[in-house]
Amino acid sequence: MTPLTNEDFFLLHTYVRQHYGIDLHKKKLLISSRLSAPVAQLGYTSFHEYVQDIISGRRPDLINPMLARLTTNYTYFMREEVHFRFLQQTVLPMLEQKHKTDRCISIWSAGCSSGEEPYTLSMYLLDYFRDKGSWDTRILATDLSNDMLFRASQPVYNEENLSSLPPVWKKRYFVKGSDGLYRITSELRSNVLFREFNLMDPIHFRKKFDLICCRNVMIYFDQQVKEDLVRRFYQATVPGGYLFIGHSEGLNRNSCPYEYIQPAIYQKKE
Ligand SMILES: C[S@@+](CC[C@H](N)C(=O)[O-])C[C@H]1O[C@@H](n2cnc3c(N)ncnc32)[C@H](O)[C@@H]1O
Repeated sequence: MTPLTNEDFFLLHTYVRQHYGIDLHKKKLLISSRLSAPVAQLGYTSFHEYVQDIISGRRPDLINPMLARLTTNYTYFMREEVHFRFLQQTVLPMLEQKHKTDRCISIWSAGCSSGEEPYTLSMYLLDYFRDKGSWDTRILATDLSNDMLFRASQPVYNEENLSSLPPVWKKRYFVKGSDGLYRITSELRSNVLFREFNLMDPIHFRKKFDLICCRNVMIYFDQQVKEDLVRRFYQATVPGGYLFIGHSEGLNRNSCPYEYIQPAIYQKKE
């Protein structure tokens, strides 16, 4: 396998940034170390042919496995719990008032990976509205990676995966099988709608959102891609709605259309 040349590196990172927003322009070593073996396994003798197959669009099947090797899908239940406390104490009481007539809440987990984020949101919603009659609390959960979405749609967890959850939720939303592993209840499963969606694409969902949760996703994007995405999120948020981002992903206060509420929490003012 011949090494990754500067030219092929340039073509590949430019393609990935343009199509998926992911900025790899300082990651030559990472690309070369993470892709060399799988590219050779595919039968390529040089990166050049592989890169040509990707950027020409001849081999769309190579994209997802490549992105999976170059980014992380790391996620877990209750990640950055401060968001969920804010959801429970501030957002949900506000939404209960706001939607008392239509009884329909609209939440988007954008970049949901294997589903722990939308399932956590969903447990909070189901719990909050449990004794309040019939509410539509379904969450839209999207990701670029269809492997992750497949995993999210039929997840299996071990004891450790669920260790951050309150014991009562473990009982209420999970069923332990004879193999010692946990599967989610149909109530929790049916409250999350998984869809493949590239955040670089125009956002044309039927409804605007009361809350968009896009955490630990924009960390891969350069400033311009990030600012553009935040503007599109803003258009897709209802007045009074919120944006949650990861705690390590600051937004530029001068260009951000949302109002800053507290670290990693923004609101579109009424
Ligand atoms: C680290 S995970 C974050 C999961 C979850 N939001 C959390 O905070 O735990 C990042 C996810 O962003 C997804 N992602 C990266 N670029 C994307 C894009 N352009 N469109 C949609 N999803 C993207 C990846 O596939 C990955 O599953």
